[in-house]
Amino acid sequence: MPDPIHILVIHGPNLQLLGTRQPEVYGKQDLPAINRLIAERAKQLGVQVTAVQSNHEGEIVELIGKANAIYRAIVINPAAYTHTSVAIRDAVEASGLPAVEVHLSNIYAREPFRRESLIAPVCRGQVSGFGVASYLLGLEAAATLAKAKP
Ligand code: DQA
Repeated sequence: MPDPIHILVIHGPNLQLLGTRQPEVYGKQDLPAINRLIAERAKQLGVQVTAVQSNHEGEIVELIGKANAIYRAIVINPAAYTHTSVAIRDAVEASGLPAVEVHLSNIYAREPFRRESLIAPVCRGQVSGFGVASYLLGLEAAATLAKAKP
């Protein structure tokens, strides 16, 4: 049996509020429901997933900093840090892991300050605007990248 492929899913700040936070923008599903869907899709894809939510930039940086000991790819919704965090960008780049940035909303159809991602240039790609499906598509992309890596 080959080693299981482990993928880290990171939910950034305020995403613990999903379900009640602007449901017209982010949907009605809460984070546990989203994580269940992610776990189901992971099973179908034959990968293992660990999902973590943090409101703290440094904690996210540390998590990514240790990721390559265990994980083969990262799916990250950096939330508001998308638009501000050089530290998370540098951590993703330094990890050397293929990363996929995801957003529930279409960040390019929103306020001007949301239209720039500091993280996307160091990711292999971005999925934005499909609600929960953004995570599932992002996971599929990450699994494909992880499986392709020796
Ligand atoms: C978000 C978009 C960000 O601009 C925002 O700060 C979030 C959520 C999304 O998933 O659509 O918190 O990342």
